[in-house]
Amino acid sequence: MKVTVVGAGAVGASCAEYIAIKNFASEVVLVDIKEGYAEGKAMDLMQCASLNGFDTKIVGSTNDYSATAGSDVAVITSGIPRKPGMTREELIGINAGIVKEVSANLIKHSPNVILIVVSNPMDTMAYLAHKATGLPKHRIIGMGGALDSARFKYRLSEALDCPASDVNGMVIGGHSDKGMVPLIGKAVRNSVPVSEFLSDDKMEEIVQATKVGGATLTGLLGTSAWYAPGAAVSALVQAIAQDSQKMFPCSALLEGEYGLNDLSIGVPCILGKNGIEKIVEIDLSDAEKAKLSESAEGVKKTNTLLDSVLA
Ligand code: LAC
Repeated sequence: MKVTVVGAGAVGASCAEYIAIKNFASEVVLVDIKEGYAEGKAMDLMQCASLNGFDTKIVGSTNDYSATAGSDVAVITSGIPRKPGMTREELIGINAGIVKEVSANLIKHSPNVILIVVSNPMDTMAYLAHKATGLPKHRIIGMGGALDSARFKYRLSEALDCPASDVNGMVIGGHSDKGMVPLIGKAVRNSVPVSEFLSDDKMEEIVQATKVGGATLTGLLGTSAWYAPGAAVSALVQAIAQDSQKMFPCSALLEGEYGLNDLSIGVPCILGKNGIEKIVEIDLSDAEKAKLSESAEGVKKTNTLLDSVLA
């Protein structure tokens, strides 16, 4: 499998690193607009190959998309990240133009590519990729829910004082501080509902901490996080590479699922060699349904800001 990662910043480089370490791809091409930057990151990462024991070839390219030709999957991380105090939505003006141009360049050289959109505001950028490229909907995946769910599991494991591998839980809805819907009522510790171990107040605290997971890190780091975003992307790419049929919440274009239409938002998806193999409609409680609808309204409102880019 050949994977392209556009944007060799912290998130893009982490993606490339995790993909290489997991050793399932033959090649990763890093692309960046800054002269020599992707080449430098690729060289640094390749010097880890003998130490970390991977065979994946990583190459860098300064904005030359011919190097990406024949990619099976391309990850779009380009654009500007959040600064402390900023919402993901505030990035739309700059990032929309970039995501549109990058998608077109990728498809020109890899007509069968599956796109994974990471740039923020992610759900709106995934929707933009659909509108701008017209690719079949199973080939555009927004990465948010996998990351938000990992942050949810981290908060659950912290509260339960157990390893994250002992808990399971999912975050659906928009990838925004207000829009995330952590499904606390469905979260489990080894199949036992977490409500058996945690008070209502504690569960609410976990939900709130999960929703501002990215903002908390932006406050601490001075910029957007990269390790968990990179790991989350690599998990999606691996599921596609290995046709694993694993389920992740991803931002998918909805056409009636969950009673929603004409937007990309986080819902459970089965991933395999075709990208999104299936959108899974799970039973939601009335409260969960209401939160998902409210989240969808927020995403749609942000989508209206795309009008000038799509014109
Ligand atoms: C975050 C960015 C990737 O949540 O949206 O860290």
